[in-house]
Amino acid sequence: MTSLASLSLSKMVDIHSHILYGVDDGARSLGESLEMCRLSAEDGISVIVATPHAHDNVHKTHDPVFLQRRVDELNEKLGGRPRVELGCELRFNHDLVNQVCKNKSAPTLAGDCYVLVEFPHSVVPLGSERALFELMSNDIRPIIAHPERNQMLMAEPERFYALVEMGILGQADTGSFTGQFGKKVQQAARCLLDHGLLHIVASDCHNTRNRLPGMSAAVAVIGELVGDEYAIAMAEDNPAAVVKGKPIPTQPSPVLPRKRSRWFFFNRG
Ligand SMILES: [Fe+2]
Repeated sequence: MTSLASLSLSKMVDIHSHILYGVDDGARSLGESLEMCRLSAEDGISVIVATPHAHDNVHKTHDPVFLQRRVDELNEKLGGRPRVELGCELRFNHDLVNQVCKNKSAPTLAGDCYVLVEFPHSVVPLGSERALFELMSNDIRPIIAHPERNQMLMAEPERFYALVEMGILGQADTGSFTGQFGKKVQQAARCLLDHGLLHIVASDCHNTRNRLPGMSAAVAVIGELVGDEYAIAMAEDNPAAVVKGKPIPTQPSPVLPRKRSRWFFFNRG
C-alpha cells in the first residue's frame, strides 16, 4: 500500500490559486507571485493553475489575453518549477455557458474540459442545477470550489450529494482540513469527504501572509481520515487529469449524507 511517509509528494497539482499579481485579491506584486510559486514548488507542487476571480466585486480584469500574458511572464521567470497554467474561479451566475463556451471570457482549467465555479458564500442560488447542467451539455465539467465553506451546503450537505450525482466535482481548500477556517468548516469538509463528495484538494492561496501556498499538510490530514491512496489521488492524480482535460481516475461512490437539523449544526462547538 502506498504511504505518505514513503512517498515524497513531488507531483502535486494545485488547480486553485490566486498567484497572478494585480488582477484580484491575490498576489500584489510580481515578487509576491514568484514567492508563492517558489513556496509551492518547495512543497512538492509541479503544476499550479492560476485561477483569478471572475467576479465583478473582486476582479480587476477578466481579459483572458492579459491574464495569459501574466502567466507567460511567470513561466519565463520560473523555468518550469512549477509550471503555471491559466484558469479562473468563476462566480456562479446564470450565464455560465456564454462566458465559458461562447464568448470565452472565463478560461477553463488549462485543458478544455473543466471549469472552477464558486457559489456565493451563504447560498446555492436557485436554478444552479440547470445552469451547471447546461455547461455539462456543452462538454464542460464544473468543479465546485470549496463547497465545505458554503453556509447552505455546510448545513445541508445532501444538496451537494445531488450535484455530485449529476456528475459535478468537489474541490476542497487545504485550509478547510488544517482548521484555518474554523471548526465548522473543518467538520463540513470531513463530512463531505466521508461521503465521497470531494475529489480534489487545492490551496486557494492568496498571498504569502495568511493564505499560503502549499498542499502537503492538508494531504497528510486527509490521509489520516480516508487513507493515503485517496489523499494522493486528490492532490496528484485527479488534478493532473483535470489539467490534461482527461476524466479523473479516482472517484468514490457518493453516499447521501443524513439530514441534520439546522439547530444541531449551528449549535455545535
Ligand atoms: Fe479562490
